[in-house]
Amino acid sequence: MPEPMPTARDLLAFYLEAGVDCALSDTPVDRLSEEPAAEIQPTARPTLFRTANLAPPPPPVDPAPVPDAAIQSARDLAPQAATLEELRGLLDRFDGCALKSTATRLVFADGNPQANIMFIGEAPGRDEDLAGLPFVGRSGKLLDLMMAAIGLDRTSAYIANIIPWRPPGNRDPSPHETQICLPFIRRQIQLVDPDVIVCLGKPSSQAILDLKDGIMKTRGRWFDYDTGTRRIKAMATFHPAYLLRQPIYKRLVWQDLRAVRKALQG
Ligand code: URA
Repeated sequence: MPEPMPTARDLLAFYLEAGVDCALSDTPVDRLSEEPAAEIQPTARPTLFRTANLAPPPPPVDPAPVPDAAIQSARDLAPQAATLEELRGLLDRFDGCALKSTATRLVFADGNPQANIMFIGEAPGRDEDLAGLPFVGRSGKLLDLMMAAIGLDRTSAYIANIIPWRPPGNRDPSPHETQICLPFIRRQIQLVDPDVIVCLGKPSSQAILDLKDGIMKTRGRWFDYDTGTRRIKAMATFHPAYLLRQPIYKRLVWQDLRAVRKALQG
């Protein structure tokens, strides 16, 4: 017997399961019926008139990478915020990151801006995008437990992400999106001015601490985060979402958290 046709509800459930939970345009596009991209024909070569004894051009000098306009604009804007509220306002008006147009709202921060510890994740997911607060979904519940293990909660810790808008379908933020958002989270760190930073997961620790190694190598070690005026102790540990998939590593996170508690006690 042929399989019954899936209903629209079945298909939507399938998309949701696959992480496709927001539309990028108002009208559907049938990509399957699109013509394959036409092959690009090489344009006719201009005739080259060779001049005898023409000196070969000098080898190209590797220019320093020039930041693109969005990165540059973020770098110019972020330091102008004198308070966290101003920074939130700047981000709300900033149109340089395309993620803003697919996200429901800005996810700026949660917790206590006077806290002496700041946790930094990667980017909001679906629950955070709806609530406008970081770490409120399943991994947020685990982060709450991790904090509680060392006597912290959202009244005694500050929580933010490198990227303040949810990437569509929870895809990884691109390196370019990360570079655009980095000046803002750096300014957020300066304004909160905690004594300890905990980077949750590889993307956060690589972006904030400028590390190349993966989290297995970097977790549990102390690094200095330089705000430009002060050095802050920073630790990388596993992201709670990773711990939900690999609970065996909770043991190592417990070690990291104990070191964090000790650092907070001075
Ligand atoms: N994962 C993150 O990195 N941040 C959140 O806010 C939620 C999930």
